[in-house]
Amino acid sequence: MVIARTIDELNEAKKVLRGTIGFVPTMGALHHGHLSLMRQAKEENEHLIVSIFVNPTQFLEGEDLESYPRKDEADIKICELLEVDILFMPTIEQMYEADELCIGAPKVKGYILEGEKRPGHFDGMLQVVMKLLNLSSATKAYFGKKDAQQLVLITQMVKNYFMDVEIIACEIVRDDNGLALSSRNIYLSQEQMQRALLLSKSLKRATKLVMAGELNVKLIQQEMQTVLKGTDEVEYVAIVDREFNTLKEVEIGNTIILVAAWVGKPRLIDNLWI
Ligand code: PAJ
Repeated sequence: MVIARTIDELNEAKKVLRGTIGFVPTMGALHHGHLSLMRQAKEENEHLIVSIFVNPTQFLEGEDLESYPRKDEADIKICELLEVDILFMPTIEQMYEADELCIGAPKVKGYILEGEKRPGHFDGMLQVVMKLLNLSSATKAYFGKKDAQQLVLITQMVKNYFMDVEIIACEIVRDDNGLALSSRNIYLSQEQMQRALLLSKSLKRATKLVMAGELNVKLIQQEMQTVLKGTDEVEYVAIVDREFNTLKEVEIGNTIILVAAWVGKPRLIDNLWI
C-alpha cells in the first residue's frame, strides 16, 4: 500500500495502476460502515483508493472540527489489512488555496434538512468531493446511504458537471442493537448509547406503520416524534422522495425517512430508504 500525502505522490502512485479504480473518500476514524464501502469497492474494481481528510470547509463555526476523532495509525493498519492500493492523506495546504473558485450546493435541496441546520456545510462537502473525485480518477466512487442528503447531492453534482465517474450508494451498517455506525458515536456514554437507539427505533416504528398500510406522512412523523421523546432534542423528522422533494404520502420504492437528534455531545442522524 502506498500512503500518498501530496498530490504529486498520489499521481505517481496512480501511474502503476491498470484497470478500474474504486474510490472511498472518508474523514477517517474508520469503522465497519467505512469498511463495508471499501470491501464493496474492492470487489467491484481492480484497484482501491481510499482518502482520509478531515475537510475543514464542511465544518461550521463552533462545530467539532478540532475535536473530530483522528486515528491515523489505526486507520493505516485497517487500510493495509483491506489491501488498499493507495491511501491518500493530504494536508489542508495540499487541498486548498486561499482565494478559491467555489462550487455551491443547489439552493433548495442543499439548504433543507441538514443544509438548513448546517448552512454552508454542503458547499464545503461538495467542494472537497469534487476535488477528491477528480484526483482519484475513479471509475466508481462509493458513498453510504447513512448520509442520504450528501449522497443525493454528490450524485446531482456528478450529473450537473458531466463528471465521468459512477456514484454507488451503499447500505447503512448498524451495530447489533440497530444503532447506525458513526465516527461520532465514540462521544456517547453507555446511558446515551441506549437513548441513541431511539433514532433507529423511530425508523422501525415507521416501517411497521408503512407495512400495516399507513402511508400518511404527518401521522408517521407524529408517531416517530413520540418514540424520539427520550432524546435531548429532535432537529427534524422528514419524509421525502429520493430527490428530496416533500411528500404527503409515502411512495413505496421512492421514499427516504430521515431523523436528526441530539443525544449528549453528538448530533446523530439516521434514515431509512423504503
Ligand atoms: P465520513 O463521515 O468519514 O464518511 C465516509 C463515508 O462513509 C460516507 O460516504 C458515509 O456515508 C459512509 N458511512 C459512514 N457511516 C456509515 C454507516 N454506518 N454505514 C454505511 N456507510 C457509512 O461523509 C464524509 O466522511 C465526508 O463528508 C466526505 C464524503 C469524506 C467528504 O469530506
